[in-house]
Amino acid sequence: MKTLVLYWSYTGNTEAIAKTIYNTVKEEGYPCDLFKIGSESDVDWFDYNLISVGSPVYEWLPPKNVMKYLQDRYHYYRDEKGSVKPCSPKLKGKFAVVFCTYGGPHTGIHEAIPAIKYIEQSFEHLGFSILEPIAVVGGFKVEKLDGRLGWTKELWEKMNKLGKEGDITGRPNENDLNDVKNKTIGIINTIKGLM
Ligand SMILES: Cc1cc2nc3c(=O)[nH]c(=O)nc-3n(C[C@H](O)[C@H](O)[C@H](O)COP(=O)(O)O)c2cc1C
Repeated sequence: MKTLVLYWSYTGNTEAIAKTIYNTVKEEGYPCDLFKIGSESDVDWFDYNLISVGSPVYEWLPPKNVMKYLQDRYHYYRDEKGSVKPCSPKLKGKFAVVFCTYGGPHTGIHEAIPAIKYIEQSFEHLGFSILEPIAVVGGFKVEKLDGRLGWTKELWEKMNKLGKEGDITGRPNENDLNDVKNKTIGIINTIKGLM
């Protein structure tokens, strides 16, 4: 079972999840590649049995560069490889899991769902079977965000403390990463039973 972990991250939260998934797959004894979107050249999704794709949530969707990457790859497989078929028949031994980090300050987990669904569609259209997504709370990195959107550090701190998910400062924390590790083991066990 060959796994690809593909992610993008601005302030490091999604990267921490990506690295946890990558390390867990390796610890479980399976080959795994890790690429940040933008750094990888033209990695072929079909070389892998499991693709784990991760993104932060920005304005309740993946950031534009992540969407552009997914669209470009989708168009490549559709137009040059003929991989998009009516009814998207499921391919044997091809699975995708989406992970995301989100702050949920206004509407909680509802903010993560459109981003997850958007990413999943890029793979379901190609015939990958979609497994349960992993959504993890990711706090605002105040130092890095100071001045972004014209907001002061104090305003970002407020977003960390007063949102729908409670105080999200410093998340993902050790518990969150441990949870991701356990879920990754669960995903591996699920796929082992299906291949
Ligand atoms: C400009 C900006 C917009 C954001 N928009 C949302 C949003 O709409 N919904 C949400 O749940 N979280 C939002 N967040 C929070 C991020 O999704 C969260 O902090 C995430 O963990 C950042 O991931 P990264 O460190 O991998 O870049 C936003 C953060 C920033 C900086």
